[in-house]
Amino acid sequence: GAFSSCFTLLLSLTVPARLSGSHSQCQGRVELLQAGTWASVCAVGWDLAAARVLCRQLGCGRPRAVPLPCSPTKAEGDVVGLRQVLCAGQELDLEHCELQPGDAVSCPSKHVAAVNCEGEHGAGPGLAPFRLRLADGPRRCAGRLEVQRAGRWGTVCDDGWSRTNAAVVCQELGCGEAQGLDGERPRFKPGVGRIWLDDVRCRGQEKSLQDCAHRVWGYHDCTHHEDVGVVLSGPAQIRLVNGPDSCTGRLEVFYNSTWGTVCDDHWNLAGARVVCRQLGCGMGLSAIGGARYGRGKDPIWLDNVQCTGMEAALSECQARPWGTHNCGHGEDVSVVCEIQVRLINGSSSCSGRVEIFHNGSWGTVCDDGWNMTAAEVVCREVGCGSALSAPVGATFGQGTGEIWLDDVTCAGTEAALSLCQVSSWGSHNCGHREDAGVECLGKSDFFPIRAGICVFIIIIIIV
Ligand SMILES: *[C@@H]1O[C@H](CO)[C@@H](O)[C@H](O)[C@H]1NC(C)=O
Ligand SMILES: *[C@@H]1O[C@H](CO)[C@@H](O)[C@H](O)[C@H]1NC(C)=O
Ligand SMILES: *[C@@H]1O[C@H](CO)[C@@H](O)[C@H](O)[C@H]1NC(C)=O
Ligand SMILES: *[C@@H]1O[C@H](CO)[C@@H](O)[C@H](O)[C@H]1NC(C)=O
Repeated sequence: GAFSSCFTLLLSLTVPARLSGSHSQCQGRVELLQAGTWASVCAVGWDLAAARVLCRQLGCGRPRAVPLPCSPTKAEGDVVGLRQVLCAGQELDLEHCELQPGDAVSCPSKHVAAVNCEGEHGAGPGLAPFRLRLADGPRRCAGRLEVQRAGRWGTVCDDGWSRTNAAVVCQELGCGEAQGLDGERPRFKPGVGRIWLDDVRCRGQEKSLQDCAHRVWGYHDCTHHEDVGVVLSGPAQIRLVNGPDSCTGRLEVFYNSTWGTVCDDHWNLAGARVVCRQLGCGMGLSAIGGARYGRGKDPIWLDNVQCTGMEAALSECQARPWGTHNCGHGEDVSVVCEIQVRLINGSSSCSGRVEIFHNGSWGTVCDDGWNMTAAEVVCREVGCGSALSAPVGATFGQGTGEIWLDDVTCAGTEAALSLCQVSSWGSHNCGHREDAGVECLGKSDFFPIRAGICVFIIIIIIV
């Protein structure tokens, strides 16, 4: 009752403003929204002090000393509802300036105010960049959506909020995919301070939420109980690079559209387990710090990562906030996961049906295109020396479960079967009666021993 009408009154006092007639949000004719329509401002009385307030309100920095070349500008169409604006220059918003009703009489030349602010899309010199974050959520990839504009954090109102909008946020935060259906509104604790955005309507191609259509910054008819919450599928994407295969290497995390590294402070085997499980690479065998697989490039996204080992994804482990660290790339974390190929039901551990671990389960390889070159790669990968044969047609019995690979084409130099050219994982036109196998020479570990024995015998003979 009284509270809400008071609130409505407060809202009606805010003065939404925009600059129109140019390609930039930070240059153009000054327009104020009143009674639902955009009205121009009379050039009489408009001065540098008012321009300073408006540029600041729009998050566009300071006004340039040089006015727009065409200023003062003729208003387009009807010059209705012209207003005079008188500011001292210190005001935070136009709403704190003196606004006088204007009309054709008080604004005789019909010349309207224009302003040329430094900024361009909120990214001009001296401006804090646009930023996004999820606050007050149970985990890193869920929470109340907050945007930073002109150095101040604020929330987003859920009027017109859609799954497409959420998808743009996901893309920008690099935190998996948006969860929930259109119309579902995840809620978190209401925010405080500004409500920066309302009526956001993304088309889906935007790189950043700030490029989506929305009302003028700071203009809305909402309360914090309508703050947008976002739940992302979570796992910030991860990868292992610069190693012999996709299950060994330097750990990198994808966040804010950029791959970055993880610092080895507090890093341990539990973290490696989480990484290997998330990548479908089996168990983590070792957690290595000190940039064993080379130094990455900036950013260093995570530091002080402490996993219990039970997390489904690295981004659910405890860590300092994204990008906050006291590390150099000499401390980049690497991970080695379990070898992800095995040989089943052969006469020795170096022959059998080829099975490969992917996406959490063991599956087989179809024999279409299977030949000695591929067998060489497998034998080397499992540490069994060179290949003797590449049996086809389920020679070692039929496997069960997925047929992970088909039409494998290896050059022979690959360090792992998964690095050969393959049709996409799990897509094939085979049955398990076509499961591929290999026979390898034997444990390559034996060769140094055999060589050692030979040298020993030769020495004995010579002596
Ligand atoms: C994302 O990166 C851009 C620069 O590429 C930066 O301006 C922006 O602030 C970053 N956003 C977040 C959420 O870190
Ligand atoms: C991986 O496994 C999950 C569930 O086990 C399944 O939903 C998903 O489709 C699988 N992905 C592939 C590429 O097979
Ligand atoms: C093992 O391979 C033999 C053929 O060498 C086959 O007859 C048998 O069914 C296989 N067993 C399993 C469990 O795959
Ligand atoms: C195996 O197949 C690949 C691709 O079809 C081919 O390039 C390669 O020469 C073949 N290797 C042998 C030993 O036939």
